Amino acid sequence: MKKSVVVLGTQWGDEGKGKIVDLLTERADAVVRYQGGHNAGHTLIINDEKTVLHLIPSGILRDGVKCYIGNGVVIEPTALIKEIKNLEASGVDVQSRLYISKAAPVIMPYHITLDQLRETKKGKQAIGTTGRGIGPSYEDKVARRSIRIGDLLDAQLLKEKLATVLEYHNFVIEHYHQAEPLSFDEIYQNALQQADFIRDMCIDVTGELHEHLDQGHKLLMEGAQGSLLDIDHGTYPFVTSSNTTSGSAASGSGLGATHIDYVLGITKAYTTRVGSGPFPTELFDDDGAELAKRGVEFGATTGRPRRCGWLDLVALKRAVQVNGVTGLCVTKLDVLDTFKTIKLCTSYGDQAFPGAATEWEAVKCEYQSFSGWQSSTRGMTDLNKLPTEAKAIIDFIEKFTGAPVHMISTGPDRCENILLVDPMS
Ligand code: IMP
Repeated sequence: MKKSVVVLGTQWGDEGKGKIVDLLTERADAVVRYQGGHNAGHTLIINDEKTVLHLIPSGILRDGVKCYIGNGVVIEPTALIKEIKNLEASGVDVQSRLYISKAAPVIMPYHITLDQLRETKKGKQAIGTTGRGIGPSYEDKVARRSIRIGDLLDAQLLKEKLATVLEYHNFVIEHYHQAEPLSFDEIYQNALQQADFIRDMCIDVTGELHEHLDQGHKLLMEGAQGSLLDIDHGTYPFVTSSNTTSGSAASGSGLGATHIDYVLGITKAYTTRVGSGPFPTELFDDDGAELAKRGVEFGATTGRPRRCGWLDLVALKRAVQVNGVTGLCVTKLDVLDTFKTIKLCTSYGDQAFPGAATEWEAVKCEYQSFSGWQSSTRGMTDLNKLPTEAKAIIDFIEKFTGAPVHMISTGPDRCENILLVDPMS
């Protein structure tokens, strides 16, 4: 029996993880976020009602399931409290089953200011971050000067830590960026109020997760962003500031590597990317526009239009390798329903898998073409009903990457899936 299952993106995020996590949560006792922050946007559509979650695990929409925000997540309290209040306003019980790690670093107002000032300064070289302070907060963690959730709960400790760290960041804000320094009092008073709101939800998440494991419970580990945005394995420097690959599920929650029983890698049947940076299979033609239109490709967090292209199997194979993917879930297959020809990138020519920014830019994709099926697969739940052309593509993905396809998503709703192997059982 599988005890802990990791669900993560194999591309640049937005693969449809939220929907799959929500679906699998039916058989989970707890859902855990372990990296990233409110840069994520997980869209769930249940009975035609849309909910977008940024920080709270997607399991929250299933009654009785416990939700944990692990030590690897960077937490912006204003965003967290807003999300809690919004969910509660629509009748979801949050505070009695959401738990926050005291070891998680806080995203403070100066992180957001710095993120935005840096992006502006970079001009055309900007990374296209979500502007939410993710990078600067992770930098403070590595520099060992983070204010962590546990520090936020101790007024005296917070006062001392904030004074030191704000002095440091205000120096940069004022003298390097020539911007207005931030007010200590404003940040401190606000932080105290936020601490009071979240206090009862803050616990030793790692300890509690191990209690779940001891009791034979099932954990669902919910990744954010995607493998190509990983700080080590992605398209550096156009990446996010956390490890988005599966090892993070252990370090960002306190599970051991041997506690992870299954890794579900989510890939769209094509590729999208928000923000700047290399995208070898990007399309600038009618096919790209058709993917964007049919896939409704706008960022869930920033509303930015997503760049679209064909599925990149070279990158997917690498993601299967670095994540140790057990099974793949192919999402948005129905978006390809209208295409006469569908292409899959099968080679980067004579370019080895890129390790430098210039190598990414030099990639020249070679494609294999497949006939489209030009009929509706929307909402299909039975593999045998899929058109043979669609099955041929699924088979090819499996052969090329070496990972079996265990799930196929055929529409945005919770029930629109072909489940071949249940990762939770
Ligand atoms: P940051 O995570 O805000 O620092 O942004 C760094 C890069 O990651 C940018 O290209 C963002 O667009 C991208 N990014 C961050 N979070 C997500 C996400 O959840 N989905 C897709 N892209 C993301």
